[in-house]
Amino acid sequence: MTYESLSAAQLRHPDSIKWNQYDEGVLPMWIADMDFPVAPPILRALHERLERPIGYAPNDAALVELLQAKFAAQGLGGLSSEGMHFLPGVVPGLYAAVNGLTAPGEHVVTMTPVYHPFHLAITHLGRKVSSVPLIDGPERWEIDWDALDAACASTKLLMICHPHNPTGRIWDSGELGKLRELVLKHDLYVVSDELHADLRYTSAPFEAFAADPRMQPRTLTLTGPCKAFNTAGLGIGVMATHNTELLERVKAAVGGLMGHPSALSQTMWKAALQEGGPWLAGTVEYLKGNRDLLYTFVQEHLPWVKFHVVEATYLAWLDLRGHAQAGDIQNFLLQEGRVAIHNGPIFAPEEQKGEYQGFIRVNFAMPRPMLQEALERMAKALA
Ligand SMILES: Cc1ncc(COP(=O)(O)O)c(C=O)c1O
Repeated sequence: MTYESLSAAQLRHPDSIKWNQYDEGVLPMWIADMDFPVAPPILRALHERLERPIGYAPNDAALVELLQAKFAAQGLGGLSSEGMHFLPGVVPGLYAAVNGLTAPGEHVVTMTPVYHPFHLAITHLGRKVSSVPLIDGPERWEIDWDALDAACASTKLLMICHPHNPTGRIWDSGELGKLRELVLKHDLYVVSDELHADLRYTSAPFEAFAADPRMQPRTLTLTGPCKAFNTAGLGIGVMATHNTELLERVKAAVGGLMGHPSALSQTMWKAALQEGGPWLAGTVEYLKGNRDLLYTFVQEHLPWVKFHVVEATYLAWLDLRGHAQAGDIQNFLLQEGRVAIHNGPIFAPEEQKGEYQGFIRVNFAMPRPMLQEALERMAKALA
């Protein structure tokens, strides 16, 4: 799989947020889209579907079955079709779960830094974020168990991101086990956003949070095709649970706000699951090469930058706090390097933003020569 020949001129299309937020000449490494074209089997299926009227579509039974099989392979066997609810995307599922499972004024726990709609869903809906900062361990970002235990004492809902955006951690079996014990101890509901699960740089199978049957009555698992297959513009996701009563409660709390899954998004997801495997494997291999290039480059040219190699996602979380411009790092890299990154403070709620100033999240899902150029620009600006 090679995406090397894609140029900025080809990618800078007016319908791409990623490529139009900043001036021409800026290399975009911010929002989590890949610069790669859609998998050919998805294109074929969409073309074929477009030959017919695009009316209201029922839930596609074949898609539901494919998802049941996929979930079963991750430890979530026995999900009924009633336990799966299609959504316009995963973010609406985060908001729906907070709305349905907690009341205004209550605390919701999550671990920071975290994909911003986690803390935004909590605050936008009038709940309070109990954020537990991850610890910068010797080899990887780690959970602060004592702090998490303390925070969980005054909440009903724990929101986890697995694999974790922005640190790229896949919580391992030991960590999942400890999380599950905490959930039982404090009698919590859990929302587990597993959207990045197919972008792992390991052959080990993925273990869903709710793979332990004790978690199944209390967990809502969220996922979708948009990260692995680069289809965010055709929004769809699913909320899956073994507890259909819990699902009904969440659905009732958001009423008709969710919309129905579109015919095209279901067609796309079905084609991805049926025939997209080889494309995905090749793309993950390419991303792995990009990940390795990024870290080798940083080690060689920016040895003062702290990082842990990501286990999943095409996002790297870099600590640039050692730089004189760390206090304004996003603007500095934009002005001096002509590179657009996501600024660390985005990934924390208001009162914690200062702790992440000087961190950046970098999207490395771009053609490799472009990544090389972006890294060279960053190194020159930071020199
Ligand atoms: C962890 C996580 N959840 C959800 C989303 C967005 O999902 P959707 O576009 O389906 O709402 C993203 C996008 O980057 C993400 O990283």
